[in-house]
Amino acid sequence: MFRHEWIEKNAILLLVLTLLTVAIGGIVEIIPLFTIETTVEHVVGMRPYTPLELMGRNIYIREGCYLCHSQQIRALKDEVERYGHFSLAAESMYDHPFQWGSKRIGPDLARVGGKYSSDWHYAHLTNPQELVPESLMPKYGFMANTPLDFDHIAEHLRANRLVGVPYTPDQIAHANDDLLAQANPQADAEALMKRYPKAVVVPGNDRAPTELDALVAYLQMLGTLVDFANTSAEKLQQ
Ligand code: HEC
Repeated sequence: MFRHEWIEKNAILLLVLTLLTVAIGGIVEIIPLFTIETTVEHVVGMRPYTPLELMGRNIYIREGCYLCHSQQIRALKDEVERYGHFSLAAESMYDHPFQWGSKRIGPDLARVGGKYSSDWHYAHLTNPQELVPESLMPKYGFMANTPLDFDHIAEHLRANRLVGVPYTPDQIAHANDDLLAQANPQADAEALMKRYPKAVVVPGNDRAPTELDALVAYLQMLGTLVDFANTSAEKLQQ
């Protein structure tokens, strides 16, 4: 009792002892994290983005879609009922940067893939009010006339690899072919599907891929990769 009063009256000693106590607390929390291999469990089905999806993601970021849309379904009953299975850490492990967002002016998009046809997305992005009259969403029709700039797609994959996305040399070497195959239903998509299972080929056509093609490819993939049937319940807790 008496000694504690002495500490409290000595500002510097109090400061030093406080820092020491906080440091011990920090060490106890942080050190164990270094002993486990990874803090994100690997789940069945996750794969890096296809080149076209990656370009679409860039456009999503450029246009600020994240300012109105989140990509993060919380483990709350109403959210799971509306949007589907809550988001797993693994589902954003290849995101640099992640697109969780912080505001929902429009609905969450974490599992929008496969919810609508690709044609619906083209029409909706071009003129949202035509499909949803009360929509606040801006029109993005200009993307349908903007050729996609993908000259540096292989370098882009390589840069992602540098920050930890496991693109293989094969995927990097065929980045250009895979991008073209996903934007043209007439093209042979077999190699693309082998390298990137579940990739959705967008309607596009034989013209050059547009920004809209890339954005739709990205939207159609969101939330569709994880194979929930083959992912253990324990991993789903992550
Ligand atoms: C100003 C806010 C705003 C911005 C910016 C915005 N949206 Fe939306 N979005 C909305 C609203 C509101 C809705 C719900 C009405 C509708 O479907 O149009 C919506 C709906 C959607 C839907 C349908 C979701 C569903 O489950 O029905 C998709 C997909 C979508 N937006 C994609 C995008 C993309 C991609 C971008 C960026 C290019 C974008 N949005 C930018 C507000 C926005």
